[in-house]
Amino acid sequence: MDNTQKEVITLANLPVSTQQILGTAESIRMELMHYTCALREVKTKLVVLSDEFSAQRKRNPIEFITSRVKTPESIVNKLKRKGFPLSMESAVQNLYDIAGVRVICSFVDDIYSVANMLTSQDDVHVLMVKDYIKNPKPNGYRSLHLIISIPVFFSQGKREMYVEVQIRTIAMDFWASLEHDLKYKKEVPDVDRIQRELKKCADDIAATDQKMMRLRDEIDSMRRNEEIRVIRNFPGEREDYVI
Ligand code: GTP
Ligand code: MG
Repeated sequence: MDNTQKEVITLANLPVSTQQILGTAESIRMELMHYTCALREVKTKLVVLSDEFSAQRKRNPIEFITSRVKTPESIVNKLKRKGFPLSMESAVQNLYDIAGVRVICSFVDDIYSVANMLTSQDDVHVLMVKDYIKNPKPNGYRSLHLIISIPVFFSQGKREMYVEVQIRTIAMDFWASLEHDLKYKKEVPDVDRIQRELKKCADDIAATDQKMMRLRDEIDSMRRNEEIRVIRNFPGEREDYVI
C-alpha cells in the first residue's frame, strides 16, 4: 500500500468535519506553496542582478536578500485586523503581503536603482509603491515598499502572484528590527520616552545614510582621478590597473 492509499483510508475513517478540516489544511498548504514559488521567482530576479554586478566587478548595490511567506496564524490575524472574511480565498484576494522579500542595500540611492531594475522588467507589474523614505512614518520608519505581481507557471497554467518587496539600507533595517521588537513587548515602562529616542535614532540614521552617500561619491571621484592619472602616465597599463 502506498502513502496516498494509506491517506485515503485514513481520511475515509475520519468524521466528516475532520475531513473538511484536513481538506482545508491541504488547500492552504497548496496556496502557500504557490506563494513560496512566487518568492523564488522574485528572489531569482534579484540574485541575477546581484550576480551581474559581481561579474562586472561593479559595486553591488544589494547587500543581502531575505524572504518569508506569512504563517497561517499571521494571515488570520491580519484578516481579522482589517475586517476581511476569514478564508484562504479572502486572504488571496485582500492581502498583498503573503509573500514578502526584503532587499538590503548599501546606500539610499541603491534602493531606487534596485527598485527600477526590478520594476522595469516586463513581466513585473507594479500595483502599489509606498515610499516611506521620502515620507517617513511618524515613528521614524523608513523603507521603500513595492507591491508587485509576477506570473508564475504551474502545471495547471499561469498565475499572477502578488509579492511585497521592501527595500531599505542596512542602517534602516537595523532600526526597523529593534523597533519591531518593541511592538511585541507587552509591559514597557516609559514607552513614550523609548519611542521618542527611537525616532531620534531613525533621524540620526537617515542623516548618516546621507553622509555615507556623500563620502562614497567623494571616494569614487578620487578613484576616477587616480585612474585618469595612471592612464595618462602609463597608457599601456590600463588593463592591469585593478581597483
Ligand atoms: P501591515 O498590516 O503591517 O502589513 O501594514 P500595511 O499593510 O498597512 O502596509 P505597510 O506598508 O504600512 O507595512 C508593511 C510592512 O512594513 C509591515 O508588515 C512591516 O514589515 C513593515 N513596517 C511598516 N511599518 C513599520 C514600522 O513602523 N516599523 C517596523 N519595524 N516595520 C514596519
Ligand atoms: Mg505586512
